[in-house]
Amino acid sequence: MVDEVLAKSFERIGSDYDRYRPGFPTPAAELLLPQRSGSVLDLGAGTGKFTELLPGLADHVIAVEPSEPMLAVLRAKLPHVEAHLGNAEQIPVADGSVDVVTVAQAFHWFDREVACAEIARVLRPGGTLGLIWNHSDPSCTWDRAAHRIAHPAVADADGTTSSAADELPGFRFVASEQVRWTERISRAAYLKRWSTVSTFLVAEDDARAEMFAAIERVLDEDPETRGRATYDLPIVTDVFEYRRR
Ligand SMILES: C[S@@+](CC[C@H](N)C(=O)[O-])C[C@H]1O[C@@H](n2cnc3c(N)ncnc32)[C@H](O)[C@@H]1O
Repeated sequence: MVDEVLAKSFERIGSDYDRYRPGFPTPAAELLLPQRSGSVLDLGAGTGKFTELLPGLADHVIAVEPSEPMLAVLRAKLPHVEAHLGNAEQIPVADGSVDVVTVAQAFHWFDREVACAEIARVLRPGGTLGLIWNHSDPSCTWDRAAHRIAHPAVADADGTTSSAADELPGFRFVASEQVRWTERISRAAYLKRWSTVSTFLVAEDDARAEMFAAIERVLDEDPETRGRATYDLPIVTDVFEYRRR
């Protein structure tokens, strides 16, 4: 069941999300678009952190996103992308009009049954659905400790937010791959990143301050972060590929 309060928390941010959230590695997009594609739709596109990889891989890129502030950042950043306000349960795109649909870090917010039917409607037969999630590397003790403080559901799920399934209605599972990469990030940017996470966005001021203080203690104590201004943060990007039946 999707938590509507958490799902709508992104309505409050835009530029901070774009500035502080990690991007995605190009190979993650290339796995889904191995040859140049005609038309690709990025659903739940946010500020365009995954969308921005697509113009190099497809002739026509469409972005659909329900949060106006997030979409405003995307429009300013990617003026050549066709951008629409909309959601996965009612996609403002014609039947059978796209070759690939990508969903980065957003599928877990969708009403799965309704969204799958809508994605199948807009995809041409045999088209690709790609689900992508960045998650923390379980071997990174300080990042895992921060997740346990501020995003326990993710930490408990062994670092992954993925809610991909072997079978989705109307789709055949093709393959899953992991892309491992490292982001160089300052302590200040790492802390700001947490303020863009849904659990922080909906928390009361006191609870948010407590979580920040606890994460700062982790960074002060872990041997990999203690006394340093910048860190090497390992990130794992999961890519799940499905084919429309
Ligand atoms: C964690 S953000 C990911 C944004 C972007 N794809 C990225 O990876 O940076 C989740 C996005 O899903 C959007 N979202 C939430 N519910 C949605 C729905 N039902 N349909 C489409 N997008 C939705 C939010 O507005 C938000 O922009």
